[in-house]
Amino acid sequence: MVILLLLIVAFITAPVAGEENETNVLIVYYSMTGNTKEMAYAVAEGVRSVEGTAAVVKSVEDVEKDDLVRADGIILGSPSYYANVAAPMKEFIDKWYFEYELPLFDKVGGAFCSGGSRTGGQELVVISMLIAMMNNGMIIAGPLYEAWGTFGATSMTETAPHDGVDEYELADCRLLGERVANVAKRLNR
Ligand SMILES: Cc1cc2nc3c(=O)[nH]c(=O)nc-3n(C[C@H](O)[C@H](O)[C@H](O)COP(=O)(O)O)c2cc1C
Repeated sequence: MVILLLLIVAFITAPVAGEENETNVLIVYYSMTGNTKEMAYAVAEGVRSVEGTAAVVKSVEDVEKDDLVRADGIILGSPSYYANVAAPMKEFIDKWYFEYELPLFDKVGGAFCSGGSRTGGQELVVISMLIAMMNNGMIIAGPLYEAWGTFGATSMTETAPHDGVDEYELADCRLLGERVANVAKRLNR
């Protein structure tokens, strides 16, 4: 009887198959006109291409402390606003330390940015977000070697030859997601 009871308890508390080692990557974006959001979903496709890895995509205003705690990898996306991180994303990052009191040690980070013009500060925005992550104890998973050493993913949305985010830019987003997922999975083991 005791053995039977122990077996039942073990069965109830055992992790569901595949859940035990699942690596979680959280993708957080701010987007007013949809470009950064589109990039976020392409990043998620890249994450999901790595076996055993789950992607959660959230707009910055919907993210809660628990989302960050649960994540093994965190990828941030912001538009370039006057060559800076957009205010809602910046406020969110500032909350990690002052409001949430979160150590994010050993979580894997990545970043992407959407900007309207050719020299619109996209790289500055990516680097600002990466440095904020490093400052919070995270590990940066770059560069994306398949994309010629880029540090993140960027798009140029309001300048010829195209409007919005193009296929090449979305492909970089997928590579970013895949890279962060692979490194987070390895650290997770
Ligand atoms: C207030 C504001 C400031 C902006 N400043 C820049 C800028 O400095 N450089 C740039 O390339 N684009 C700039 N843009 C354009 C946006 O970055 C671009 O349209 C981006 O794709 C918008 O992303 P979203 O569709 O996710 O909101 C600015 C847009 C706004 C609304």
